[in-house]
Amino acid sequence: MDWLRLPRFGRDRAWLYSSAIIVGLAGLIKVRNGAIDYVYSETHCYRSVRTHTAVEDAYVNCFSVSPRGKFTKVFTADAGSDLARNADPGYAMPGLWDGHGHLLQYGEFLNSVDLFGSTSMGDVRTRVLDYIAGHPEAGSEREWVRGTGWDQMALGRMPTANDLAADSKLNHLYIMLDRVDVHCIWVSQAVLNLLPESLPDVPGGEIIRDPGMGVFCDNAMDVVMALWPKPDPKKKQSFLKSAMGKLNEVGLVGIHDAGSTPENHHLFKELAGGDDWTVRVYTMVECNERNTFCPDEVERYISPDGFLSIQSVKLFADGALGSWGSAMIDPYTDRPDTSGSLLVNASELTYQAIAWAEQGFQVNIHAIGDLANRNAVDSLTAALRHLCPGKEEPLSACQSRHRFRIEHAQIIHPADQERLHAIGIIPSIQPTHATSDMAYAELRLGPIRTATEAYRMHSLLDVGPAGPVLGSDFPVEPPNPFQGIYAAVARRNPHTGLPADGGWYAKEALTLDQALQGFTEAPAYAGFWDGVAGIISPGAFADWIVLDRPLEELDVDKLRTLKVRETWVGGRKVYSRS
Ligand SMILES: *[C@@H]1O[C@H](CO)[C@@H](O)[C@H](O)[C@H]1NC(C)=O
Ligand SMILES: [Zn+2]
Repeated sequence: MDWLRLPRFGRDRAWLYSSAIIVGLAGLIKVRNGAIDYVYSETHCYRSVRTHTAVEDAYVNCFSVSPRGKFTKVFTADAGSDLARNADPGYAMPGLWDGHGHLLQYGEFLNSVDLFGSTSMGDVRTRVLDYIAGHPEAGSEREWVRGTGWDQMALGRMPTANDLAADSKLNHLYIMLDRVDVHCIWVSQAVLNLLPESLPDVPGGEIIRDPGMGVFCDNAMDVVMALWPKPDPKKKQSFLKSAMGKLNEVGLVGIHDAGSTPENHHLFKELAGGDDWTVRVYTMVECNERNTFCPDEVERYISPDGFLSIQSVKLFADGALGSWGSAMIDPYTDRPDTSGSLLVNASELTYQAIAWAEQGFQVNIHAIGDLANRNAVDSLTAALRHLCPGKEEPLSACQSRHRFRIEHAQIIHPADQERLHAIGIIPSIQPTHATSDMAYAELRLGPIRTATEAYRMHSLLDVGPAGPVLGSDFPVEPPNPFQGIYAAVARRNPHTGLPADGGWYAKEALTLDQALQGFTEAPAYAGFWDGVAGIISPGAFADWIVLDRPLEELDVDKLRTLKVRETWVGGRKVYSRS
């Protein structure tokens, strides 16, 4: 609604700021719905403004922003006007959202050993040694060395504690390193020494015993995590700050945080809206014990300024494909002895989904394998039937109120893809997972499952009103949304540009606009902020980015290296490239 009469601003930005203050003092006062808004706004003009996913019907080059950080007016300044002549030389578009990432883990990753791309045990040791050279306090019982990004495929075999002990400088240190998909941890002998001598197998998890001890996957990670000295709130605060700075730098204004504990949510509530909190966070509750019901520890909370929203829960149906942990209907092609494992059985998953949904929480289930996805669809369908028992209402209408999601939705049987369509259960997909996994996915799944079930994007395009939510799963993949857009559009790896011809299963590729929607309007819808986030429109959060060239004019290959000029959140400049 355009209820602000815009004063005539001119000249440059600096002038706009000072005139904003003057106009502010003049104090336009508006009484609406009993509330008093002191309204004065600031106008920004660019070469052009792309306001939403669909390419504009009409050319727009300016918008105004209220001091409370909302767009108040979106308009076109005439070519000859002062506003147009003094416009910023960049191109504005809605700020981007990552629909699935891990905020604290990303901050921790930025402050730990980067093992992505490590190619040998020696390479890992060198990186850990480099890290402790700069962090002499790390490695004690109270502060373990942390790292992320190893992959047994690249290392040649599963690593062991002995592989770390091979360097005498690492021999006695406490070290815990996450696998590339964060579904396994690799620990040093000092950490193993804290554990009981004989460790029984863990349902829904795996303790790797061959070629030696050191790696714990999925539910088996809990025994180690229970001993890990967690970072204190001060440290977490610094993790959040470094994470948000990096996210702003790649053009992100908001994220869906795919699982934080109630304790972390207390910290988020304290910090949200402060000067360092420069990313909107839609966070999912993950109880201290996975796949449990802990309503006494959390309450729904949506901050009025839109910087924090707690109204969803994350459940986990299975593990990851890389470690054969994802639960499949039929055995793996490259390991016919196993079809992975469910972290929770179907009836328990349904019980949890209903319990959380009854508390008013959106239910988001992590599901990679086709069995896990089947169970997720079953559970969410059962929860919807329970919530909306009336026969007259279709389940899809019920779903449009509850907006249940499947996180990853990676390998889905064709029959279950149809059920997603019929009900509108939202797939939350990471386009760079497809292009990172393509090297081994077909080995695990074989040609038929790969062609008909895996890494769907185009096939799921018309699920729900906004289509699939796209994201990166940072720190599992880098958070740069333009790399995600590239992977979705080209079906090629943004780091290598490969495969060279046509892209991997290119019929699942999206168009640029569809990919953009996945990083703007789809996460807005899936976070109950449709019309308020991911769009430049009066009344929406004033979040935008500025590019050197309009996105739609770029050669697709340029997306891989695109760098944003500026990022603005709530009308405040939070990143500027210089
Ligand atoms: C499912 O899991 C729950 C909780 O672990 C257990 O109580 C229940 O017996 C299991 N049900 C089946 C059918 O295995
Ligand atoms: Zn994740």
